[in-house]
Amino acid sequence: MDKIIIRGGKPLFGEVNIGGAKNAVLPIMAATVISPGHYNLTNVPNLRDTRTMAELLRVIGAKVEYNNHKMEIDSTTCNNPVAPYDLVKTMRASFDILGALISRFGYAEVSMPGGCAWGPRPVNYHIDALKKLGAHLNLDHGNIIASGKLTGNEIKFKFPSVGATKNALMAAVKANGKTIIRNAAREPEIDTLVDFLNLLGAVITGKSTSTLMIEGVNALDDNLDFEIIPDRIEAGTFLIAAALIGGEITLTGVNPNHLSAVINKLKASGTEVIIFENKIKVCASKEIKAVDMTTAPYPEFPTDLQAQWMALMTKCTSSVTIIDEVYFDRFTHVAELSRLGANIKLERNVATVTGIDTLIGAPVMSTDIRASASLILACLAADGESEISRVYHIDRGYENIEKKFQKLGADINRISN
Ligand code: EPU
Repeated sequence: MDKIIIRGGKPLFGEVNIGGAKNAVLPIMAATVISPGHYNLTNVPNLRDTRTMAELLRVIGAKVEYNNHKMEIDSTTCNNPVAPYDLVKTMRASFDILGALISRFGYAEVSMPGGCAWGPRPVNYHIDALKKLGAHLNLDHGNIIASGKLTGNEIKFKFPSVGATKNALMAAVKANGKTIIRNAAREPEIDTLVDFLNLLGAVITGKSTSTLMIEGVNALDDNLDFEIIPDRIEAGTFLIAAALIGGEITLTGVNPNHLSAVINKLKASGTEVIIFENKIKVCASKEIKAVDMTTAPYPEFPTDLQAQWMALMTKCTSSVTIIDEVYFDRFTHVAELSRLGANIKLERNVATVTGIDTLIGAPVMSTDIRASASLILACLAADGESEISRVYHIDRGYENIEKKFQKLGADINRISN
């Protein structure tokens, strides 16, 4: 298993280019199944998760080619509406395929995703939404079996779930009649799925609002070229990195509009942030002011940057509270950050972080994608040497993260075993 070795304390300088969004491309890859056709996706990041989704599409019968951030998908050959446990268990987003499969075949067999490193992560909203559209659902040997001809209806989510909104959208585009999704998620990754589906001939209105309206159509078009939006979480990770580690860096290939909540918090922490059309320049300040943070659905501060924000606050001037309102259990990084000397107390979903002057390098362990990112940041800011194990987690969501940090002047190396 690969390890990352870091010698901390070197400030960051230079430019870093941000890749395409993992959480945008995964549902779009799934959506290519809805209508048999040829799809050319650009700005596709080379990640473990995109490779897993490509594998899943091949199991379903699609042809998928990937080269240099371009992906060609031929979904005309799809003939097997089954997403097996082996793939779904490694990546929860495989469950995004459920809505696409039932839309195409009127039948889908998708393994239940189970839990993940930080808790159970249920799929009840996805299932209730499909039932509202008239699907019959059964659980057999850990697989959800969904079947039936779908009819538009009103769906109201208790919480604006990103995944359930995606599945409901994909199921509804070819349903008979009109569907209304209330309390829909408003993340940029939902907007881009709406754009993709509308360009294919779907009729979806209400983009960027919590009410999405879908007029079902009989068929969609059969080919599309589509560019994936920049990854706001990778961008946010580098913004926070510069604020914590020190120096001055410029992010290119970003959409600053998707990062307003994060930029506002960074400014409150004393960090200088200068926004251009698709660039952001960030200059660290000498001291990091204490800034409380609570995660919530978009446009609020994203849960996917909670761990990185906590790494930043380990060196703040006083104490802060960090609350995760999206995932109550997403705190596996707390114990690892504490190994570097961070002063963090955790009660349920509320972490109290008291800043210290110096983090000290240590061996630490990755537990999930974003927890791993926070450890990289903290180790880069720490005095001395750190070793991060189980880095396969980070490869799920960040392409060549160590190379990007090396280019900014950091002393970070991967050791492959
Ligand atoms: N929830 C339910 N029932 C459901 C679905 C969700 O109770 O049927 C709850 C969840 O337990 C959670 C909340 O609703 O408390 C929000 O979950 P959501 O469905 O919005 O999350 P998701 O679609 O499973 C996506 C991202 C996550 C990101 C969340 C929140 C993808 C592939 N994943 O997950 O990204 O944290 O939205 O923004 O888009 C990551 O990239 O590291 C990651 C975990």
